[in-house]
Amino acid sequence: MPVSEGGAVLGVVGGTEVATLLDELTRTVGRADPYPRYARLREISPVLRAEDGALVVTRYADCAQVARDPRFAHLPPDMLAFLGFPDWTEHPALRMFYTSLLILNPPDHTRLRRLVSGAFTARRVQALRPAIERMVEELLDGLAGEVDFVERFAFPLPVNVIGELLGVPAGDRAQFQSLVRDWTQVLEILSPEVLRTADPAAAAIRDYLAGLVAQRRRTPASDLISALVAAEEAGDQLTEEELLTTAALLFAAGFETTTNLLSNGLVALLANPAQLDALRDRPDLAQSAVEELLRFDSPVQLISRVVVDPVELGGIPVDEGERVIAYLGAGNRDPERFTDPDRLLLDRAGDAPLSFGGGIHYCLGAPLARLEAQIALPALLRRFPRLAPAGTPERRESLTIKGFLRLPVDLR
Ligand code: HEM
Repeated sequence: MPVSEGGAVLGVVGGTEVATLLDELTRTVGRADPYPRYARLREISPVLRAEDGALVVTRYADCAQVARDPRFAHLPPDMLAFLGFPDWTEHPALRMFYTSLLILNPPDHTRLRRLVSGAFTARRVQALRPAIERMVEELLDGLAGEVDFVERFAFPLPVNVIGELLGVPAGDRAQFQSLVRDWTQVLEILSPEVLRTADPAAAAIRDYLAGLVAQRRRTPASDLISALVAAEEAGDQLTEEELLTTAALLFAAGFETTTNLLSNGLVALLANPAQLDALRDRPDLAQSAVEELLRFDSPVQLISRVVVDPVELGGIPVDEGERVIAYLGAGNRDPERFTDPDRLLLDRAGDAPLSFGGGIHYCLGAPLARLEAQIALPALLRRFPRLAPAGTPERRESLTIKGFLRLPVDLR
């Protein structure tokens, strides 16, 4: 229902242009460069109606509200039945995703998050700095000439960091690149075809972790899996199923997105040589540079929620039951918050990017992802000062996760 504000009539806008732009975002052309489409959507109206009925927001303030305001909750799993998957518990990919910390609402969310958050505090993460610096130097030592940056650096670094933390043995880690990529297809528009890829991958991840948990039960170590096993054995804090789901989420989230931060970040820098030179020559820039790279091309482009209590969004009353998509990647380029939002400015100050979400689901791994990128990108640029693109990169075909499958570079 349209409402009047300051003389202007506000309302939820749908229609052909909105449908076309939103559809393009799900296709190769829009995935490669969503930003002009976000800008146009933002111009059309703060709150848009997609053809499937979901509401879409693209302004910084509205995206931040969707992330932070508890009246926007995660889709309860019974809604999956409503969306056409009444048998969702029979699908390993859906079960492992929709019963994870990322999707649960309080009080289960609160209980599970409390169990793992201690491992990711800023202090605990900073203590990993020397280990991460060592891993970065070792990876760089093994590089020369033309390489695929994703395969040789952007994937191995975060997978080894989170693998060490969790206690996944080094030799077992590489197989998870494609398994997690296939499982996270559930972030896309769900279809039986998506599940044909995602289900076996989720089942393989679960089976592997069940084996690891059994082993840690027999012989505990000083890793996070052992800590979760101890919590499970100590009483009613965590079931075996929750333990496996939590371990799978931490492992997957620990590298999938950080791989893309490193790759998207490098591509943005290569397209802005003066900024690249500045990051290489000024170590004091590392912190603000990573915030700006997160803002400029976020590895996670959207979050989705359902309205559980009537609420006002973008000046418009929204009813309970409405599904909402918040394009974080669009909010990050909102000119109301960022001057000259399409320019990469590594010393930009001001609002934090929306890339880690907000509220109770604010990314648990944010301090870790930040630290990895703050160490890795300047070290890479110092080691290979004339690094250049070498051939055509291959993008990941995903609406939610923005990044590359392959990124050929010439290391000089
Ligand atoms: C650049 C890298 C990363 C980005 C852009 C990112 C982004 C996000 C976003 C947007 C959310 C919130 C989703 C929502 O509200 O629906 C989230 C949640 C989460 N992230 Fe990350 N993430 C990154 C790295 C990591 C790492 C390294 C870990 C490692 C442990 C991690 C673990 C998690 C977990 C466990 C959650 C769920 C938290 C909860 O629901 O309470 N993430 N992340």
